[in-house]
Amino acid sequence: MPSLILLILSAVVTLFLRPHHASPDFIRQPPRPIVNTPHDLPESYSQQVHLSLVGKNYMKVSWVTEESNVPSIVDYGKIAGKYDSSATGETTSYRYFLYTSGEIHHVKIGPLDPATTYYYRCGGSGPEFNFKTPPATFPIEFVVVGDLGQTEWTRSTLDHINASNYDVLLLPGDLSYADLLQPLWDSFGRLVEPYASKRPWMVTEGNHEQEKLPIIYPEGFIAYNARWPMPYEESGSKSNLYYSFDTVGTHIIMLGSYTDFSIGSDQYKWLVSDLAKIDRSITPWVLVLVHAPWYNSNKAHQGEGESMRIAMEELLYNSHVDMIFAGHVHAYERFVSLLISIILLLKTRVYENDIDPCGPTYITIGDGGNREGLAMKYKEPSPSISLYREASFGHGRLRIMNETHARWLWHRNNDSTSVVAEDVWFESLISSHSCSQKIKEKVPQHDEL
Ligand SMILES: [Fe+2]
Repeated sequence: MPSLILLILSAVVTLFLRPHHASPDFIRQPPRPIVNTPHDLPESYSQQVHLSLVGKNYMKVSWVTEESNVPSIVDYGKIAGKYDSSATGETTSYRYFLYTSGEIHHVKIGPLDPATTYYYRCGGSGPEFNFKTPPATFPIEFVVVGDLGQTEWTRSTLDHINASNYDVLLLPGDLSYADLLQPLWDSFGRLVEPYASKRPWMVTEGNHEQEKLPIIYPEGFIAYNARWPMPYEESGSKSNLYYSFDTVGTHIIMLGSYTDFSIGSDQYKWLVSDLAKIDRSITPWVLVLVHAPWYNSNKAHQGEGESMRIAMEELLYNSHVDMIFAGHVHAYERFVSLLISIILLLKTRVYENDIDPCGPTYITIGDGGNREGLAMKYKEPSPSISLYREASFGHGRLRIMNETHARWLWHRNNDSTSVVAEDVWFESLISSHSCSQKIKEKVPQHDEL
């Protein structure tokens, strides 16, 4: 009798595991033009203001001024127009062919109280901004969106993101699509300022950040590293191209698809060390972001993440990473994680191209709205581990409710409105009895940074 029940369950499950697609009458959106975001304030005023998390209870404020003698100072406080704290930082600038950047300022402020609105001003004059710090405890809501660009679709996506509250934005690469045209980094900074000045934006690099040129700029990432420095030193990394940080019970690892990831490389050794230090009693959730997807059934960029998957998948599996987000493919795709598997009612995830109850859930979310348009062609038939795939612009929201449960919403851009096309609940691996036993056996290692 039990075997009959299993057989029936298996048949039901097979039906559930068939991939979802958008309804046939849904019309795909063509690319939309690049938007120009001019600077129409005095040259000494801050522009391109954005925030990032930098250590516990601190934020980094980054901005650009066209004038070079503006002080790198941020005045801030909890009441609008009344600044009872201030901090000074540093400036940088860079040249790229004939282009010279404005003065790029980075100032670390804090300690800051959790779940608190702060008002601030950059450089001692100019407009006031405000932001809210992440909460001290669950729940926390992440917006996840890759391949943002600066088109009219980007603007729609940003409006939809801004329409409801969130705590931290995670961007798995491809920001401005400047592609050597440096003024496009400035216009991107101005486009995202109304959003990135209100919440921390944590990013990792995509191929469009490289801007390498043989002999002249062989290392690349000149603009990206100058404009979007992330807290890599705080996580023991030697490079802005990969790092990790903690926020509200979540350890987040930002990997670099475009710097050496092979076994024995600096990034690989850093990842081994970073994973060894995770303490699941402090951060029960572990997320990873990377640009080129390791699992992808779209014909675009097929196989580009494969060598990195081969190098690093086992490390992440053995450390029980909950979810891995990627960009690069301009579409949405989710690889498993439904509360069902072929044999038993387990949480199914992915490892080595197959269903595995203790592997991560993989999500491709390269759908921010860039100028290249959507990746429309998929491999057929759909692999059984791909549960939902759709070539539409949009963004995702991961609301981690507590140590054990998180809700994932994928919002599709339907012209000017945002529609929830996916609504899925995830359980953390720490809450899975069979997987958590392995996690508990691992003792976190703390070494000197
Ligand atoms: Fe990309």
